[in-house]
Amino acid sequence: MHFFHYRQNELYAEDVPVRLLAEKYGTPLYVYSYNTLVRHFKAYDEAYGTFPHVICYALKANTNGAILKLLAKQGCGADIVSGGELFRALKAGIPAGKIVYAGVGKTEDEIRFALKSGVLMFNVESADELREIDRVAGTMKMKAPVALRINPDIDPQTHPYISTGMKEHKFGISIDDALEHYRIASRLRNIEIVGVQKHIGSQITKITPFVDAVKRILILVDELKRRKFNIRYLDIGGGLGITYLNEKPPVPADIAKQLLPLINGREVTLVMEPGRSIVGNAGILVTKTLYLKKGEGKTFVIVDAGMNDLMRPSLYDAYHHITPVARRKRGQIRADIVGPICESGDFLAKERMIYGVRRGEYLAVMSAGAYGMSMSSNYNSRPKAAEVLVNGGKHSLISKRGTYEDLVSHEVMPGFLR
Ligand code: LLP
Repeated sequence: MHFFHYRQNELYAEDVPVRLLAEKYGTPLYVYSYNTLVRHFKAYDEAYGTFPHVICYALKANTNGAILKLLAKQGCGADIVSGGELFRALKAGIPAGKIVYAGVGKTEDEIRFALKSGVLMFNVESADELREIDRVAGTMKMKAPVALRINPDIDPQTHPYISTGMKEHKFGISIDDALEHYRIASRLRNIEIVGVQKHIGSQITKITPFVDAVKRILILVDELKRRKFNIRYLDIGGGLGITYLNEKPPVPADIAKQLLPLINGREVTLVMEPGRSIVGNAGILVTKTLYLKKGEGKTFVIVDAGMNDLMRPSLYDAYHHITPVARRKRGQIRADIVGPICESGDFLAKERMIYGVRRGEYLAVMSAGAYGMSMSSNYNSRPKAAEVLVNGGKHSLISKRGTYEDLVSHEVMPGFLR
């Protein structure tokens, strides 16, 4: 559920016409709905009721500081994968004690930063990484809280690029090797084992992979507890899908209903790492139609947002619904909606039936809140899009449009070229 809707054929973000935002802030423009974000967070929080739980929003989906701050104010934690994400999470006021740190390639500096900050736990992905965290913690005279990321070998039935929990993936430790790795961890003096983590992939729209993966992990948790490991956190990762086209993913309450009876009775705090299901449908990308071009047997709608602004269609062939900001009574055309980038892969939609659109008119790319802005780049030297947050009738810029100066501000001219 989100708060983007039509009123008399005008698209609104909450109570604000999207056209007004496009005119005020320019395009391409990411628009987010405050009340959708809060609602999505609460859907998780309320689903688990009094069962001890921490919702650690996966920053990688969208790292804007205002979005992080509004989630922090709701009591949200963070799932991070880099020092940069840790910096952002702390800056937005997310307490370190609610931050879990994932990723297969944590560097010494990043480990140090996380230890100094006091993160809830490291989700460790290999024996080498365990030893490195142990070494770094030793130099700091600290004990590092650690969960092992276990790869339960469950097919999440999603796009292969965003599946992570199977044997062939680089992520986590195979469930068959889990006990051995816990044994290795228990021998390291500066490691404190606190949990078990799993994450099997993203945009999962069925309930069974979640339940099957948790069942498999629980067998391990019970075995570890039997062996006197102090497992206090069960981190079930993220991955819940959203509706892009006609998917009907379960809502957090559906999942909780199945998981809670399985987990009940074990003294663990449940940790979740949702990203997409919090921000995905809470954001749209607004773009302006620049030109219409009739190719051979094909019409191209050329817009001012490109693959540098929203990479998902190019990268995963992902579907995003595209709808006119002002709906007019016109016939439909079949068209490719493409950006200005010099690549054939630069498209937002292919062979899409859309209502006839004219130059200068705005289109909204829906469900663009997750992995939109956070995966954007300056490719073709295009400044970054601006971002706006709408709350009821109020709206505010939360990230300025990039400038040409931004494009070169990091560059350093060597002396011999001056
Ligand atoms: N936890 C871990 C360890 C993850 O790797 C991820 C996502 C999440 C949580 C959050 O997953 P979510 O709830 O958002 O599904 N760029 C791709 C998605 C990549 C997901 C990477 N990991 C896309 O645009 O579809």
